[in-house]
Amino acid sequence: MRELIKKAVLNHSLTHDEIVLLLREDKINQELFSAADNVRKNFVGDEVHLRALIEFSNYCRCNCMYCGIRAENRFVERYRLTKEQIISLAKNAAGFGYKTVVLQAGEDMYFTAEYLSEIIKELKRNDIAVTLSIGERSFDEYALLKDAGADRFLLRLETSDKELYETMHPKASYENRKRCLSDLKRLGFETGTGCLVGLPGQSLSSLADDILFFKEIDADMIGIGPFIPHTHTPLKGSSSGSFNLALKVMALTRLLLPDINIPATTAMETLQSDGRILALQSGANVVMPNVTLEEYKAKYEIYPNKSRVDYNELVEKLAKIGRTVSAEKGFRKKQKL
Ligand code: 5AD
Repeated sequence: MRELIKKAVLNHSLTHDEIVLLLREDKINQELFSAADNVRKNFVGDEVHLRALIEFSNYCRCNCMYCGIRAENRFVERYRLTKEQIISLAKNAAGFGYKTVVLQAGEDMYFTAEYLSEIIKELKRNDIAVTLSIGERSFDEYALLKDAGADRFLLRLETSDKELYETMHPKASYENRKRCLSDLKRLGFETGTGCLVGLPGQSLSSLADDILFFKEIDADMIGIGPFIPHTHTPLKGSSSGSFNLALKVMALTRLLLPDINIPATTAMETLQSDGRILALQSGANVVMPNVTLEEYKAKYEIYPNKSRVDYNELVEKLAKIGRTVSAEKGFRKKQKL
């Protein structure tokens, strides 16, 4: 097992079966986490990139079985920020020192690609990178958004197990999800993807496939979080994913894709206190503080008890573990492996 970790540190490659072995065996967790921490330090350094997250609409046409803002959840009070509100939040974030703004929403077609383009152009008047996380669109729509100046796009695959994908996403198509990711790459977006860990029916073998998929498409960013059940979803009776398993999937992702950006996700912190710091010490190098207006934060409930980032507390905790806040936009600096 230790040999496998060594091999991954040196070659940044593992077979499917080797990944499954490492995911199954918990005796080597500390070695795995510290190997990922070293690789993170060697490839992307001690700077942590902060991305200001703006959740600008919780309307969604999808019905993902796990998600609290799914279309059929009648208990959600839906909201949309106005163009002016979005621009003002982004400006404040830029003024505060954030170098990236992430615009995230449910799949809300009120925000057409044309309308979003107007907003993006406005945001790009500030010295910031703009990331979009708005779900599936056509190639032409993505192209319009890219032309408007969007730099990055986040679209998790959620799971590489086609059957599980289709159970979890009624009426959605696994092929279309992959088509979106390939279009985004082709258009020159820095492309982020990722998966949920602990979905009911998910196997270690499929998690290994998830990691190999990230490598195969040469993803620039990977977000990994444990599944957390939400009362007003069909998965309300299921148990949460395991924090440790999610951390292992993340650490292995760092070993195999050493130069990418990996956030310490909110779901990790929600499931375990100090989960964010543990993630930053096991391969992560990004944090995404939510800068959405207070009245809307609670309404963007994809899962319950979403943890929050207190900026000052975060900076203090980062200092304690020898990390600093980056003053750069934090694009991936691709390295020859
Ligand atoms: N638990 C954890 N993560 C979730 N997401 C959606 N619902 C949940 C949940 N119940 C994640 C999805 C999505 C991201 C924005 O939030 O992976 O891509």
